[in-house]
Amino acid sequence: MKQDSPYDVDVLRKEFPILDKEVNGHPLVYLDSAASAQKPRAVIEAQREYEAHFHSNIHRGVHTLATKATEAYEGVRAKLKNHINASKREEIIFTSGTTDSINLVAGTWGRANLKKSDTIVLTRLEHHSNIVPWQILAQEKGFAIEVVEIKENGELCENSLKEKLALSPKIVCVSHVSNTLGTINDVKNITKQAHQVGALVLIDGAQAAPHKTIDVQVIDCDFYAGSAHKMYGPSGVGFLYGKHELLCQMPPCRGGGEMIESVSFEKQTTFNVPPYKFEAGTPNLSGVVGYGAAIDWINSLGLDNIAAHENSLLEYASSKLLQIEGLRLIGTAKSKASVISFLVDGIHPSDIGTLLDQLGIAVRTGHHCTEPIMTKLGIPGTVRASFAAYSTFSEVDALVAGVERAVKMLR
Ligand code: ALA
Repeated sequence: MKQDSPYDVDVLRKEFPILDKEVNGHPLVYLDSAASAQKPRAVIEAQREYEAHFHSNIHRGVHTLATKATEAYEGVRAKLKNHINASKREEIIFTSGTTDSINLVAGTWGRANLKKSDTIVLTRLEHHSNIVPWQILAQEKGFAIEVVEIKENGELCENSLKEKLALSPKIVCVSHVSNTLGTINDVKNITKQAHQVGALVLIDGAQAAPHKTIDVQVIDCDFYAGSAHKMYGPSGVGFLYGKHELLCQMPPCRGGGEMIESVSFEKQTTFNVPPYKFEAGTPNLSGVVGYGAAIDWINSLGLDNIAAHENSLLEYASSKLLQIEGLRLIGTAKSKASVISFLVDGIHPSDIGTLLDQLGIAVRTGHHCTEPIMTKLGIPGTVRASFAAYSTFSEVDALVAGVERAVKMLR
């Protein structure tokens, strides 16, 4: 089994202060990067630098610090625009993360455009954050939610997609990569099919952006959402990409400072242009600056290199784990990103997670905010190990040894 990497992982790990830690008397083995990735020193320092030397509010003052802070913030917008190949910087809205981005689309485009007779399409693979905002709005508006089903291996079922598209939905909301099963969806093809029936497409890219090059113009999606903290950046920051003409038509959903053109008690209050129309209040400034450093960090390593390294880990971990008696992988799509979910016959996933934690091994257990997947597969949850650029083959060995030990103790 190939155990090489396009870069020196041991050298790279030195950039992540937390990876030196011991947890419960053992060296930390952090295999929970799909929940949140760790941050390199460049990101931690960029935030600290900003807070110590540049902080001020943005877009509001004429003084020097206000100008510097505004330039830093808007510079990250331009960086993100290039990173996902949006056609305009105005197409990038800063949010608090993917959940916030999806709620924004539901709360503005959805509230303005969906009515009782309409249908929208989600998939069985969605994270709760791409389900519940739509359910809340459906309670208010009365539209129907249809669900594209999955196959046993965790891939989307093409026939189910065709059936649902035949209902002429207004929007199709789909994850790029499943956080639970690792399935990579062919979002370009799904978008093409959805557009043929006149539906818009929203892509939850939370789990794709840390692992894949995203080109929103090639995908041709209408909305794309992502989170900084999955991309080696700070928590509480993310983005929503939206096609400019759509953002121009959409009403704002949160009122406050900077999202207005003019406020009046005598006349109609009028609103700013996108993206500012959707950025009410003072944003997470040091978080956005840290996000910029995270994007630079990812690009200096290269997403293709990160993906190659993670794919080797995934292959290695799958073959090693499958040697454990009674262990089965949950999610075996042909195209997968660096998430490996599994169950061991007769053992509850949270018991394995607890024993692994005692060995300093961090994995996530449970339904991973995807209860509909668990219902469909008839399982209580899974143990999920997830990899990042800094994960190592010896960490996979530690995981495998830890699971073997847990199985011996729990059987
Ligand atoms: N969505 C994150 C996960 O999959 C929190 O763990």
